[in-house]
Amino acid sequence: MTETAPGAQEFVPSGPPDLDELRAAAAGCQGCHLYQDATQTVFGRGDAGAKLVFVGEQPGDQEDRQGLPFVGPAGHLLRRAVDEAGLPVEHLYITNAVKHFKFKQSGPGKRRIHQSPDRIEITACRPWLVAEFAALRPDVVVVLGATAAKALLGPSFRVTQSRGTVLPWPESAQRPQDFPVEPAKLVATIHPSAVLRADDRQTAYSGLVADLKVAAAALAA
Ligand code: URA
Ligand code: SF4
Repeated sequence: MTETAPGAQEFVPSGPPDLDELRAAAAGCQGCHLYQDATQTVFGRGDAGAKLVFVGEQPGDQEDRQGLPFVGPAGHLLRRAVDEAGLPVEHLYITNAVKHFKFKQSGPGKRRIHQSPDRIEITACRPWLVAEFAALRPDVVVVLGATAAKALLGPSFRVTQSRGTVLPWPESAQRPQDFPVEPAKLVATIHPSAVLRADDRQTAYSGLVADLKVAAAALAA
């Protein structure tokens, strides 16, 4: 395995950030090897005026086929939790830390099995995420699970320890050329897929909703 990847930066358009322009450019990204086996880039989607942004891990099987983030089971659960927490489902933007599906194929049907992106892939893809923030200028960013947390808060951040609290905006999530921008508030929580896998789903789901209520309060503040 290669230890480094060229990264997405050279594919990100320079100039004032514009979501449509970013999405079009990301379709041709070859910043790491993940574009080779995936169907397509899955860029973020949602309200371009959203003050609330969700960051997941990477597209799953269905997202890879449809080209849209969070259209599978994790997305359904997330939308229910968002609604229950009193957050504006219609006025959010949702994206992933890594924009191509990473998988391995096994079994007779060659089923595509999700693999977590590694540090190199997360770092390679990060310029897209930072550019999305620059375009959106959100008030609140919700980090869903360990991969998104690694992308924004560094490798030593532990979601289980710091979830459900308002955290300061990491300066590294800001592009120097976009200063001055009001920093967003950040709230970390578990990934909706972790709720689907939990032994006690109800407790895990209630925990997710409780963390999202913290984001709702931060958004209203
Ligand atoms: N899980 C994610 O993290 N992102 C998606 O888009 C779908 C599932
Ligand atoms: Fe580019 Fe990200 Fe896809 Fe890698 S995963 S090719 S950096 S869009």
